[in-house]
Amino acid sequence: MSGLRVTGWGTALPDRVVTNAELAETLDTSDEWIVERTGISERRVGGTTSELAIAAGRAALAKAGLEGSDIDVLLLATTTGDRIVPATAPTVQDALGITGGAVDLNAACSGFVYGLVMANGLLATGARRILLIGAETLSKITDWSDRSNAILFGDGAGALVIEATDGEGDLLGWDLGSDGSVTHILKCEHQGTIEMDGKEVFRRAVRVMVDSSRASLAKAGLDVGDIDLIVPHQANLRIIHSACQKLGIEPERASIVIDRYGNTSSASIPLALVDAIDSGRVTSGDTLLLTGFGAGMTWASAVLRWSR
Ligand code: UT7
Repeated sequence: MSGLRVTGWGTALPDRVVTNAELAETLDTSDEWIVERTGISERRVGGTTSELAIAAGRAALAKAGLEGSDIDVLLLATTTGDRIVPATAPTVQDALGITGGAVDLNAACSGFVYGLVMANGLLATGARRILLIGAETLSKITDWSDRSNAILFGDGAGALVIEATDGEGDLLGWDLGSDGSVTHILKCEHQGTIEMDGKEVFRRAVRVMVDSSRASLAKAGLDVGDIDLIVPHQANLRIIHSACQKLGIEPERASIVIDRYGNTSSASIPLALVDAIDSGRVTSGDTLLLTGFGAGMTWASAVLRWSR
C-alpha cells in the first residue's frame, strides 16, 4: 500500500500589484468597503496560466530536489487555461521536461484539493511522483467594470511535489462533493466573464466548508481540536471567519493570504499553504485541514499530516 507525502512546494505571482485604491479610480468603490466586506487589500494581475504554473512547478521541483523527468503525472487544477483545447497541462509538461502524463482538472476553486485526492489515488495504483499545480489568470474572465466582481479576483499559482510513501501516507481523510443544481449562482460562459450571486454563494460556501471539513475529519478519526492549521479557500475573509467560528477553530489558526492576493480560485489553497510553510507556521507532525468550495457548486476538504 502506498500513500502520499509532500516533498516540495512553490508559488508564482505576477509582479503587477493592483491596489484597492487603483480600482477605486475607475469603480464606484473604496478601499474601506473592500477591506471591510472582503478582507482584500490588493491582488496580483498578469501573465498566462501556463507561465505561472511553470514557475510554481519549477520552484516546487527545486525544493524537492527533483527534475521534471522524475514526475509520473502532472495534475494542473485551473479554470482559466490558456485555451479551450488542448489543455494547459501539456504546455507546462513540455516546459518542465516532464515525460509522464499531463492533464487539466477543473473543479473551480475546489480544484487543488480534488487534485490532492486524485494524486493519492494515482500513488495507490503505482505512480511514484506527482506534480500538482493550481494556477489561474482570473483577470482574463473578470468584468473590470463590475464593482461586485472586479474587487475579488487575482492571478497566481501554487504547486506541490507529492511522492509515494509506504503505508497509508499523510492524507488522513478527505471529502469531495458537488451540487450541479446551483450552477447558475457562479459561472462563466465561453467568451464571457464571471457572473455571480454573491450573497447566495456566500451563504452556501460557509455551509459546505463546515460540513465538508467535518466529513473529512470524521474519516480521519480526528476532531477540530486536533487541527493545528486550517488552510481555507481564500474567497472572502468573512466566509473564512464564519466557517472557522462554526467549526470551533480560532481565526488565528487559519492561514490567510487573501489580503495580498484576493481570490485566485484553484491557486488560493496552495498559495495559503506555501505561505504558512515558508513563514514557519507549519512544523513536522502538524495536522492541517485544507477546505474549499467553488463554482459547480463543488467542495473539497482534506486532512493532511505534515511530515517534512
Ligand atoms: O470562489 C468563490 C467566489 N465568490 C465568492 O466567494 C463570493 C461570495 N460573496 C461575497 O464575497 C460577497 O457577497 C460580496 C463581496 C461579493 C459582496 O458583499 P456583500 O456584503 O454580500 O454585499 P452586497 O452584495 O449585499 O451589497 C451590499 C451593498 C449594495 O448596495 P445597496 O444595494 O445596499 O445600495 C451593493 O451595490 O454594497 C454595494 N456594493 C459595493 N459597494 C462598494 C457591492 N460591491 C461594492 C463595492 N464597493 N465593490
